[in-house]
Amino acid sequence: MSTTEQTFIAIKPDGVQRGLVGTVISRFENRGFKLVAIKLVTPSKEHLEKHYADLSSKPFFPKLITCKLTAPFNMLSGPIVATVWEGLDAVKTGRSIVGATNPLASTPGTIRGDYALSMGRNVIHGSDSVENAKAEIENWFTAEEIISWKSHSEDWVY
Ligand code: PPS
Repeated sequence: MSTTEQTFIAIKPDGVQRGLVGTVISRFENRGFKLVAIKLVTPSKEHLEKHYADLSSKPFFPKLITCKLTAPFNMLSGPIVATVWEGLDAVKTGRSIVGATNPLASTPGTIRGDYALSMGRNVIHGSDSVENAKAEIENWFTAEEIISWKSHSEDWVY
């Protein structure tokens, strides 16, 4: 059964630097998701380490966050657009809009399948479970920053 969920979607520094913010937002709006939070942020190293805490033992972890020499488009290389989207099965459907992590495997038509350049330059992050979505939303937004609003189209879209 479908349930209304919230998911955390971040446009990574490479996506912001390439001017893909509008494209990413359009993809989620076109799919019928409702934007309930958005901000442009330059997170600290500590903030990103918390966000990616489950990956801290991975060999690529330092490269993902900090190492400018090996990965010029790491997560600290520029601002990130942090967003929260609401909709039916938003976490799973959000991941299908985002596409596979590795650009070699991401299907054309997905955001990564259309725009990702490499594992470290894959434009976007999307929560991979409802549990992680909740933790990520809490890590990036205060409760006051999540806006509850009613779209005129909601009654007939859903
Ligand atoms: S794993 O090992 O399966 O848990 O990792 P995976 O799900 O494939 O990727 C998790 C996030 O790490 C990023 N990643 C990388 N960044 C830079 N360089 C390399 N080599 C690399 N490998 C994985 C990947 O883009 C995922 O980021 P998010 O933001 O979660 O999409």
